[in-house]
Amino acid sequence: MSARNTSAAASPRTSKPLDIDRTRERLDGLGLGFAADALERTLTESVRDGTTPQAFLDALLSAELEERETRRVGTALRLSSLPPGLSLAEFDFGFQPSVDRSKIDTLATGAWVKQSQTLLIQGPPGVGKTHLAVGLGVKAVQQGFSAQFYRFDELLTALKADAHLPPSRLRRKKYLSTALVIIDEMGFEPMDREEASLFFRLVTYRYSRGSILITTNKSVRDWTELLAGDEVLTAAILDRLLHNAHVMNIKGRSYRLRDLDHALGAQNDKR
Ligand SMILES: Nc1ncnc2c1ncn2[C@@H]1O[C@H](COP(=O)(O)OP(=O)(O)OP(=O)(O)O)[C@@H](O)[C@H]1O
Ligand SMILES: [Mg+2]
Repeated sequence: MSARNTSAAASPRTSKPLDIDRTRERLDGLGLGFAADALERTLTESVRDGTTPQAFLDALLSAELEERETRRVGTALRLSSLPPGLSLAEFDFGFQPSVDRSKIDTLATGAWVKQSQTLLIQGPPGVGKTHLAVGLGVKAVQQGFSAQFYRFDELLTALKADAHLPPSRLRRKKYLSTALVIIDEMGFEPMDREEASLFFRLVTYRYSRGSILITTNKSVRDWTELLAGDEVLTAAILDRLLHNAHVMNIKGRSYRLRDLDHALGAQNDKR
């Protein structure tokens, strides 16, 4: 909350000081606390610039809406467990030419989340799979979708803990109820039968109901091995996941090793 003093803005016509405390209280009383905070500044600017009453009112209401939106996004991002600091704006597309920037821009509109589609990001370590997944998750939240980020092992732990819940309670769990579930790092550890069948249940439930974004270092050709060696289950999971899916294969160097690449390059140059 900004400091509220009782200072007054000058009235446009009379230059007589105008007490704004009462107006501020009314805005507060109506639940427009951010507009109340912005009142003095907006009024002063309006007087200075000679704007119309309608423009002043519009600026005041915009201040309320913008601050509400900022708070909403902040809260939603905190609840989503998306790791902080990974935005699309900070992704260096020049470093990873196999990432199609226009494809990312299209996905960043959130239309795929609205249509409950799947996004699979495949590639070797360090190529930016998690970074892009988080960046797209942030965009989805900014567009008003709910999102939840899980590392794959965390998701399995949650699925196992909830395995015996009745469907009515299960449906309220975030991995089923949010518009977008991001599952990061699938493929490091193969699943046992119970885990594979819980994962199947998740994919089946979300199919056509909500989006799934998966990052993995394993090609879908190797998923049978990942899913407890069960070919039938793997086929059923892939059938649902890949229907209406976007698949991105990132081929390139690890961003984590770029400094090492530079250092090795410099050493070779000296030889
Ligand atoms: N093109 C890029 N531009 C800027 N930063 C990048 C880029 N690619 C990766 N990074 C950064 O490099 C680090 C590793 O990237 P990230 O974790 O996304 O890789 P990954 O493909 O998920 O790797 P892993 O398979 O090991 O999980 C992160 O700090 C990420 O922000
Ligand atoms: Mg990763």
